[in-house]
Amino acid sequence: MSHSADSAPVEQRTRPIQVRSVGRHLDRVDGHAKVTGRATYAVEHRDGDGIVDPLHAWLVQSTVAKGQVVGVDTATALAHPGVLAVLDHTNAPRLADRQNGELAILQGPEIHFRGQVVAVVLAETPEAAREGAALVHVSQEAEDHEAELREDNATYRPEKVNPAMETDTDEGDVDAALAAADVVVEQTYRTAYEHNNPLEPHATTARWDEEDGREVLSLFDSTQGVHGVVQAIAPMLGLEAEQVRVRAPYVGGGFGSKGEAHAHVVAAALAARTTRGRPVKLAVTRQQMFALTGYRTATISHFRLGASADGRLTAIEHRVQEQTSAAREFAEQTASPTRMLYAAPNRRTSHRLAVLDVAVPSWMRAPGEMPGMFAHEVAMDELAEACGLDPVELRLRNEPDLDPETGRPFNDRRLPDCLRRGAERFGWADRPAEARATQDGDWWVGTGVAAATYPAMKQPGNAARVRALDGGRYTVSIGSVDIGTGARTVLTQVAADALGVEPASIDLEIADTRLPSATVAGGSSGTSSWGTAVVAAAQRFRTDHGDDPAPGVATVASAAEDPEAEKYAFHSFGAVFAEARVHRWTGEIRVPRLHGVYSVGRVVNPTTARSQLVGGLVMGLSAALFEESWRDPRFGHVVTQDLATYHVASHADVLDVDAEWLEESDEAFTPMGSRGIGEIGIVGTAAAVANAVHHATGVRVRSIPVTADQLVSP
Ligand code: MOS
Repeated sequence: MSHSADSAPVEQRTRPIQVRSVGRHLDRVDGHAKVTGRATYAVEHRDGDGIVDPLHAWLVQSTVAKGQVVGVDTATALAHPGVLAVLDHTNAPRLADRQNGELAILQGPEIHFRGQVVAVVLAETPEAAREGAALVHVSQEAEDHEAELREDNATYRPEKVNPAMETDTDEGDVDAALAAADVVVEQTYRTAYEHNNPLEPHATTARWDEEDGREVLSLFDSTQGVHGVVQAIAPMLGLEAEQVRVRAPYVGGGFGSKGEAHAHVVAAALAARTTRGRPVKLAVTRQQMFALTGYRTATISHFRLGASADGRLTAIEHRVQEQTSAAREFAEQTASPTRMLYAAPNRRTSHRLAVLDVAVPSWMRAPGEMPGMFAHEVAMDELAEACGLDPVELRLRNEPDLDPETGRPFNDRRLPDCLRRGAERFGWADRPAEARATQDGDWWVGTGVAAATYPAMKQPGNAARVRALDGGRYTVSIGSVDIGTGARTVLTQVAADALGVEPASIDLEIADTRLPSATVAGGSSGTSSWGTAVVAAAQRFRTDHGDDPAPGVATVASAAEDPEAEKYAFHSFGAVFAEARVHRWTGEIRVPRLHGVYSVGRVVNPTTARSQLVGGLVMGLSAALFEESWRDPRFGHVVTQDLATYHVASHADVLDVDAEWLEESDEAFTPMGSRGIGEIGIVGTAAAVANAVHHATGVRVRSIPVTADQLVSP
């Protein structure tokens, strides 16, 4: 099995593309396959894809938060019709590498959190597997556990925070500046546990074969990055990367929870290793997702802002407390935006964690920026109030000349333009300065604003292949995944423009580790990273093979690093405006208007981009008002483990939500001029809503979700 490309990629410096399709609407190239049901998701593959006569796996989970498995009684399960086998820590295949405490399942009796995989049932049907799982009796010995994040137990200092940022920063003299400040805001803000709930639950189909005397594992996995799955699991299974093939032709969303492989992928791989060639399908249930596939940690942000009377910040302090798991460390970078957003000569940030006997936290749309900017942007609203300043004006007064974090110039910092454009569009000028000033019948009415920011990221390690076909057509190949964002469509547009042909002349191949290497659909970096590789391959192809290439010729290239790029700080910006109406008797909150204005470089496809930005705004609204996972600290599990008790914003909650973007092109960042759009829509949105609720009612809520009980006086 060939691993990635047919030859090693050559490095190619890219130059900006001539845009023709990029910037214009193009229907989703996979839209027809999706709406007609022909798009195959991870456990829908059949004979045509080599998935013949599959078995079905069902996970059995621990019911204590910490302890030992002392016995697994499988007799009743094995007697159930259709059940073929039960794997537990005594009989599962051994892993070659057990360092990852989340992934190294079924290797020993230890239980690190409630909901951990302690057995896997294999059966002829999903129904039999599920019934078999219910019949497995796992005896567990419980030990004392700690599953509650509190201010007094979040004291562990991690080496780094996600992905590899400094844990703490300290510039100037924050304490002295605060002592000398005219105005000080000192408050604590909290965000809730949240669980990613993509439409398609996590799922994997696994098949082991022998090819040329070597074991080969093939997976269809619902993942944000096929190559990342290989990197995570091949060493654990004692395999070379070439021995694992991962495909993900269609994925029903991820929001970060499919950015890293979780334990069910290992469960499917281990199970399939025992079946003498029969494939194994494993679908995680919605309820199991609340224990096994990552979540956003709750956060506690201690903020101190110091300012002169005219609202100019002299000091910013942001001390974060949040949690990680004893099974594996994950430290969210909650203070990261605080390090670069506003000018202030004195600044201190830190992250401390409670190490708990809980499932492993992970990525959820804008990890870091989302909870951190809730805290920062509510604190700014409080500062505006304390200074008697309009909150838009306060932000304009704190624009830095250079990136406060790196000292570099921003390449394209247009936060003021976003604020001004948004204010104009929203009708901000008519806003009463005082809170609790507007009543409409039984409803208090108010408006709020917050800034948004997200780093522009382009990952190394991407390559693409361009191959000439007959009749002026081209196959363009890269192992990237379209998780529903529209990547397949925008990469087709980028490839077409880079080659100077129509999008209809491009056959795009993605989502297979046999294709050139691609990084994860995460960090809003997909289009930038993969698109730049596609442009590199297309431009090199034209250099090598000209405008009229012989059918069959091909070029594999990756983008050379641009030394100029080191000169700038690259970030996207936005401004979110919200209107809130709060019922004076019941506290019910409605958000009739939510508008965002963004500076994200050039938008490659306005239709798919609008979905990303509006989707981010809706997810931010959902965080502001609804999403909250309740972990019962006595037993360590998430109680709200379904979509009835964990409410995600639905149609009735979403009224006038709209996004627009500034016309621009950032060719210093990518040859397409684009910068990334997946996450910025959620950033700042919850703060804008909370600030609007304050403006409506005069009640300052410093935690999300903001709920009715917090707004009705006893
Ligand atoms: Mo996104 S949370 O970086 O997949």
